[in-house]
Amino acid sequence: MSEAGFSYAFPHRDLLGVSGLNPLDVRIIFERAERHLARNAERDKKGSSLKGLTQINLFFEASTRTLASFELAGKRLGADVVNFSAGNASIKKGESLADTAETLAAMRPDLLVVRHSSPGAAKFFSELTGVSTVNAGDGAHEHPTQALLDVFTLTRRWGEIGGRRIAIVGDILHSRVARSNVSLMNLLNAEVRLCGPATLLPADADRWGATVFHDLDAALEGCDAVMTLRIQRERMAGGLIPSEREYAALYGLTHDRLETAQPDCLVMHPGPMNRGVEITSALADDPERSTILDQVEAGVAIRMAVLELIAERSGERTEITP
Ligand code: CP
Repeated sequence: MSEAGFSYAFPHRDLLGVSGLNPLDVRIIFERAERHLARNAERDKKGSSLKGLTQINLFFEASTRTLASFELAGKRLGADVVNFSAGNASIKKGESLADTAETLAAMRPDLLVVRHSSPGAAKFFSELTGVSTVNAGDGAHEHPTQALLDVFTLTRRWGEIGGRRIAIVGDILHSRVARSNVSLMNLLNAEVRLCGPATLLPADADRWGATVFHDLDAALEGCDAVMTLRIQRERMAGGLIPSEREYAALYGLTHDRLETAQPDCLVMHPGPMNRGVEITSALADDPERSTILDQVEAGVAIRMAVLELIAERSGERTEITP
């Protein structure tokens, strides 16, 4: 440790999940993202830290926010970026995931960004190809950059999230966003609450390090922030929730429902959202409450930071100020 602080090498060549990150890793990502956020607000957004590198974004599931932000992130850092979506990939013609991975690896990319419906898909690509890989969402398992951008958004508002009470509401069972956020919020010592109907909460939710609620008013009591999740309409056919109208009455966020929360309680949504179901339009668009577009803006900066850090993992050390 010197007077200026100490040096720490970001140790990860992949980002496959929040598990594996320590608070120092998160701090380094956030400090780097803060710089990118400022640069992204300028007219000239172009950097060159990934110049000469090739980034392939492999999306086997639909995406707006994650795909667009990873593409912008790579391009703003000077990488050559290629997007593959499932609709156009040879997997449609029967090619196996392993053959797809090895084919792409033979083109010598430096970075892979993978979204897939199967838990472990990003890890599979990383292990098979040896290429630095970011998990952009694997089934109901993890979505680490989403959690990083969510917590970064809160950290920018509050300074830190330790000691804050945060509720995550909705379809927790099928949500990689909830899993990654609970891990990250626990890592940074926030108090996390999970709320939803019993059919949409995992059986082991009480072992996630969060308190489980079925009653929204009770869950929101004293909360500093609440994140509501998309109700996946396909779940209704499976009988997991009765109807959109009933779900909205019980779990939909409105200004009135925030009465028991802190007066300045922030409202988050990872998107895409169903207006009028899990959140009213009035609340989603309330500039005093809603962080939804801040989350999207933070997403580009966080993904720039992550791509840069894993790309330079074997390179220089990062100075940490005390
Ligand atoms: N939050 C999120 O992952 O959104 P997309 O599905 O649009 O990427």
